[in-house]
Amino acid sequence: MAGQRHRRLVRTSKTGLPVGSELLHDPRLNKGTAFTERERDALALRGLLPPHVHTQDEQVARVMENFNRKDTPLGKYIHMIALQDRNETLFYRVILEHLEEMVPIVYTPTVGKACQEYGHIFRRARGLFVSTKHRGRIADTLRNWPYVDIRIVVVTDGERILGLGDQGANGMGIPIGKLSLYTACAGVHPADCLPIMLDVGTDRQELLDDPLYIGVRHKRLRGEEYDEFVAEFIDATNEVFPRALVQFEDFANANAFRLLERYRDDICTFNDDIQGTGSMALSGLISAMRITGGKLKEQRLLFVGAGEAGIGIGNQVVSAMVDEGLTPEQAYGQCWFMDVHGLIVKGRDHLGDEHLPYAHEHEHLTGVAEAIESIKPNILFGASAQPKLFSQNVLEAMARLNERPVIFALSNPTSKAECTPEEAYRWTEGRAVYASGSPFPPVEYGGRTYVPGQANNAYIFPGVGLGAIACESTRVTDEMFIAAAKALSAEVSEDDLKLGRIYPSLKRIREVSARIAVAVAEVAYARGYARKPRPNDLLEYIGTQMYDPEYEEYV
Ligand code: NAI
Repeated sequence: MAGQRHRRLVRTSKTGLPVGSELLHDPRLNKGTAFTERERDALALRGLLPPHVHTQDEQVARVMENFNRKDTPLGKYIHMIALQDRNETLFYRVILEHLEEMVPIVYTPTVGKACQEYGHIFRRARGLFVSTKHRGRIADTLRNWPYVDIRIVVVTDGERILGLGDQGANGMGIPIGKLSLYTACAGVHPADCLPIMLDVGTDRQELLDDPLYIGVRHKRLRGEEYDEFVAEFIDATNEVFPRALVQFEDFANANAFRLLERYRDDICTFNDDIQGTGSMALSGLISAMRITGGKLKEQRLLFVGAGEAGIGIGNQVVSAMVDEGLTPEQAYGQCWFMDVHGLIVKGRDHLGDEHLPYAHEHEHLTGVAEAIESIKPNILFGASAQPKLFSQNVLEAMARLNERPVIFALSNPTSKAECTPEEAYRWTEGRAVYASGSPFPPVEYGGRTYVPGQANNAYIFPGVGLGAIACESTRVTDEMFIAAAKALSAEVSEDDLKLGRIYPSLKRIREVSARIAVAVAEVAYARGYARKPRPNDLLEYIGTQMYDPEYEEYV
């Protein structure tokens, strides 16, 4: 009987809306001190809240006051996730109003640190953990999720978290962060989103030895066992959430390319590290050429780092060059790659299938500066996760060969950048057109202020996802990513370019995402992938689909 006496009373209203303490503990419905007097009366909230009714603006001010009191990025991250767990509407309002400050906290670079510490900062489960314990009953696990019509799933197996390697189940921070950006940047409703961790184990011994680690305690599944597990997950997702787009995120190299090839023509899916990054970089390239002149097909590119990001960008650039009239062979010929073993050339060891089209006849060189002298690129990409790889020598070589060398130092987090903007401008006498993967503050050089662009995937994937779900596309294709890249570049103003910025201000992201969504949906309609009839005004329709974090009036 004592158990009965201590049970919490669960109340719901006639409409099914939870009331009283239940309502305050539902983060999707809770408004905290912003519940109005009428709502407090009608929804059994009297006495459960302090008497004063606050506006959402006042609540935002309170959140920011506390946010600014935290003195580490990780502290700020924990503060924001706690808010997301209490009051989701307010969380998104704060993110939207302080986007440039918040993206580096809820996403890269801070989310990397959060993943490394996940088991230690863990407070409350978020998203779905599908582990090896659920084999044979993954569909049942998915059915435990409380929302039935999921439209976007972001899934990781945690094996390559940013540039930080295997983080096992701790990688859950990534899908959570990505989906927060879907909502903040493209207005995808939070109830439409589902973060999933495929916990297939970890090969990082220190995690397996850590008593506070949250994942299953065994080495990673490999080979057929792994593929069967992923196949069961994909089938289960199709069964339980048939309208969902599945976005693969931070899988290790070999699995990422293989799974993309396996599923891209069967289901509505993409890999953001490969295709999203490719599109985001292609867009930067198109904008950079507005400064340097010339056509894409005339550019010669050297990629340092031939993993998912590098090859993803290369493949997207090749598709766009073919669009401009080159043959695939000619287009591959314009793109050169280096990896940890040096220049990728014909006949070399350690080549994956994805490298073969880029393995040209050439002497095998190992130094980046040496490769630049020989290949003479006008565009240099860094996607190696190796800090300071673009040394003074490397940057001076690019500056010697080009009036306006284009330098992308994409590696995340900040500590992994191949060079800082300050280094890029200094060693090219201020002539570099530069963008980085992580955010950097503006730089003064030679009496000028440069505002380095952040080549952030958040510019592309939210708009692509929004476009795909708005028209209920059955596929996400490379053509859609090229359309997205062009739409993004069209949003870069002449004033942005004068500041050296090749991406628009993040402040405009919702407007930009809506335009990208239109471009993507147009491709879906043109190619017959859209399941939803075409509205007359696509931009207006997509605008009406976008979630705005305003409080709903319950009574
Ligand atoms: P990955 O692990 O698939 O590939 C890394 C590549 O770098 C491999 O080809 C490796 O051989 C090469 N590499 C390592 N050391 C090298 C060295 N000393 N010289 C030349 N090459 C070297 O990793 P992935 O996914 O391609 O990511 C790479 C980096 O790019 C990460 O830091 C990631 O955070 C960042 N990235 C940034 C994005 C952005 O700016 N928006 C988007 C996606 C990735």
